[in-house]
Amino acid sequence: MTSLNATPALDCRYRPKWHYAAERNWLNDPNGLVYSNGVYHLFYQHNPLGDVWGNMSWGHATSADLLNWDEQPVAIPCDEHEAIFSGSAVVDPLNTSGFGVGGVAPLVAVYTSAYSPASPLAGRQAQSLAYSTDDGATWTKYAGNPVLDRASADFRDPKVFWYDGDAGSYWVMAAVEAVRHEVVLYKSDDLKSWEHLSTFGPANATDGVWECPDLFELPVDGDPGNTRWVLVVNLSPGGIAGGSAGQYFLGTFDGVTFRSETTVTEGMQTDDSRMPDYGWLDWGRDYYAAVSFSNAPGGRRLMIGWMNNWQYAASTPSQGWRSAMSLVREVRLETRAGRPALVQAAVDPFAASGTELFAAGPAPLADGVRWLPVEASGDVLRIDAEFRPGSAGKVGLVLRAGEADGVQERTVLAYSSVSGESLSGELSLDRTASGHVGFHADFPSVERVPVSLDGSGKLRLTIFLDRCSVEVFAQDGLVTLTDQIFPAESSTAVGLLAEGDGATLVSLSVTG
Ligand code: FRU
Repeated sequence: MTSLNATPALDCRYRPKWHYAAERNWLNDPNGLVYSNGVYHLFYQHNPLGDVWGNMSWGHATSADLLNWDEQPVAIPCDEHEAIFSGSAVVDPLNTSGFGVGGVAPLVAVYTSAYSPASPLAGRQAQSLAYSTDDGATWTKYAGNPVLDRASADFRDPKVFWYDGDAGSYWVMAAVEAVRHEVVLYKSDDLKSWEHLSTFGPANATDGVWECPDLFELPVDGDPGNTRWVLVVNLSPGGIAGGSAGQYFLGTFDGVTFRSETTVTEGMQTDDSRMPDYGWLDWGRDYYAAVSFSNAPGGRRLMIGWMNNWQYAASTPSQGWRSAMSLVREVRLETRAGRPALVQAAVDPFAASGTELFAAGPAPLADGVRWLPVEASGDVLRIDAEFRPGSAGKVGLVLRAGEADGVQERTVLAYSSVSGESLSGELSLDRTASGHVGFHADFPSVERVPVSLDGSGKLRLTIFLDRCSVEVFAQDGLVTLTDQIFPAESSTAVGLLAEGDGATLVSLSVTG
């Protein structure tokens, strides 16, 4: 490791309350998400020596409730031969790997070795193992590494799961050939020797490298007899809002081949007009490298994304620490508009400890901005709002509003109807005047996503504010929008917004 990026003093201005950030230094992708013996493990891409990317190692945090995280010592440090890039971790209850001792199931991490010039494998990326026989506290690299080497410079981010189906029972690895826009699938009986199964891609969004895949099965509407497989493919740049984003495909997996039912465009041609037709995990700028937990109890599929974007991640205004994870999200498949759709709900920080600060509605919403009373303001809030836009052109919320150094700050979440009282419209999140935006030319932005009102003309929004972020779940999690913002601490006002008359605020609840 080099110590070129010596840690500067900590600046905690924007440090989130409920989103995991390393106490010190840089963080990117969530890695090795795994549940074992009552503990959720969050490993992550980490520079232990600086607040920008470098010296990539696996940091580690643990939690019993997915909300309160305890930072642990660095789990897998880089060395002079390899950086430890992204990957996954599994519990190996049958000790297929042979790493277990005394009948205790080992934890096995499968990570990408990014070989440095000092290594005989310099320039390559290959898959390697590390294991823990003390439930994640300490890790040992496998002496036989790498376990899967394709002599490729861009082969990374292995996500491993136990497949148990018609084709048999074995480990499956999904990894990427990043530059070729391929997800490559392999199988193994022992996590050490791998056999190629099939290759998926290029398909849908290909205007950036493919990274951090995931593959899992979910019931549709909770029916175990009707399932789809979800193939997650993160890509950067080329995301729907610009820069980094996660796309997903729905389809089948027979133990060998993933067959997509949601491919819109195939091959490497990019058709910008089709971008909104692809499946997106999030329509904002700051939800990347999202992958799911292995072995989560109750069959829940829980995901975390890195709440940042490679376009400007190195420049965000913090010092001594940089970047946070998203809230944990439970993902499910529900039939919406006649077909299976991915819906997401955050693990709610306020469920156990929140207090309702303000409630309103039903009430007509007149043209203009109506500021909520001061008790409904804050920088760490959950807001639930239900609107019936009616004949109004626009409804929404003004968030984190205030004045700093004589400048008005605000982040605006607005729904605009396409025309008159139709059910289709667009939800937008505007952070162009959200506070500190000038640190990178790509940061000030307006995110837009098509949203339909429900059958009775209503829009439902759940919003989580946490000091430097806005996470929006619209129409019961059908659409999510995640953006970082850097307002002054004093910019905490919340307002209701309407353009034109005829809108109704069906209900509003602010929790803090
Ligand atoms: C995604 C990514 C991965 C890689 C890691 C390196 O953000 O580029 O593909 O493994 O970050 O830190």
